[in-house]
Amino acid sequence: MADLATPMAIRVAATLSLVERAGSAGATAEQLAAETGTSASPLRCLLDHLVAVGVFDFDADSGRYRPTKLGAQMGEDAPEGIKPLLDLNCAGGRADLAFVELLGTITTGAPAYVRRYGRDFWADLDAHPQLRRSFDAQMNWRFQEQAAQIAERFDWSRFARVLDVGGGDGNLLAAILRARPGIRGQVLDLAPTATAAADRFAAAGLGDRASAVPGSFFDPLPTGPDAYLLCDILHDWDDDHAREILAGCGRAAGPNGTVVIIEPLRGPSTSTAINLFMLMCFGGQERTVDELTALAADTGLELQSVGPVSDERTALEFRAAPPVDF
Ligand SMILES: C[S@@+](CC[C@H](N)C(=O)[O-])C[C@H]1O[C@@H](n2cnc3c(N)ncnc32)[C@H](O)[C@@H]1O
Repeated sequence: MADLATPMAIRVAATLSLVERAGSAGATAEQLAAETGTSASPLRCLLDHLVAVGVFDFDADSGRYRPTKLGAQMGEDAPEGIKPLLDLNCAGGRADLAFVELLGTITTGAPAYVRRYGRDFWADLDAHPQLRRSFDAQMNWRFQEQAAQIAERFDWSRFARVLDVGGGDGNLLAAILRARPGIRGQVLDLAPTATAAADRFAAAGLGDRASAVPGSFFDPLPTGPDAYLLCDILHDWDDDHAREILAGCGRAAGPNGTVVIIEPLRGPSTSTAINLFMLMCFGGQERTVDELTALAADTGLELQSVGPVSDERTALEFRAAPPVDF
């Protein structure tokens, strides 16, 4: 319980790509130090600890370190896909480091990320294009299976036009449009990611049905679409910001439009670690159906339906509450 050495040693190993560099043939500390521009003696100290915890094997005859089956999981091409969550130069690995400021978050509720890096997660991605790219790649990786599930299991065909609000680089919208040839869509996201979405649509031959709008969901949203999709957006924000985002969608959707929230719900199967991460990084949290319904009600939206749309996500559909007659 008292060990921060192992999590940090693993993260440094991932950042230096020691698994890929050593490969199945293995490498000495001197070789790895020369390749990574590090010092051999401290690197040996790191490798010896990784041997002690089962991440590398050491062959005393050749002096070579080789990744074990466990260590191989942090390789770039490993199916576990955890390298970007460990690599300190990727968005996920960098964000996890802010956990050292967790006490501040628990004391004040304020995101540890801001305390550690001096700006919020999204502004930090904006300032570091390579972080932004790694974040978008991570988002695509997590939805390898789920994008198609969400496209198939929710009845999108009722809508002529969908605006995917904070839709990232267009992965989910592209899956929806491929599954539902009759509909058109737009992604609204921060500028570099909106550009990546436009590139994706063009490359996928969807340019005639899909486009991307650079912008913020805290500014007025385009009107016209019949559905406003918020997928994994609200859990990134505290209640006040989540209400603001919902209110913007509700205003743009108008009396006849639909707001669709797709999120993991908080419950017995929720990963408490991910929930704590959301709190630490963003000041957000997973919410229950009742909590999402109450937030939406504060902005004049009324729950129409709830149902699972993928292995880990639920869709909640909202429309403007009818005016009250006196
Ligand atoms: C967790 S990702 C989800 C992306 C996508 N909806 C999906 O499910 O794959 C959150 C997205 O919100 C976007 N975002 C954050 N702040 C934003 C803002 N103020 N306006 C528009 N998009 C924003 C991020 O750029 C990111 O793409």
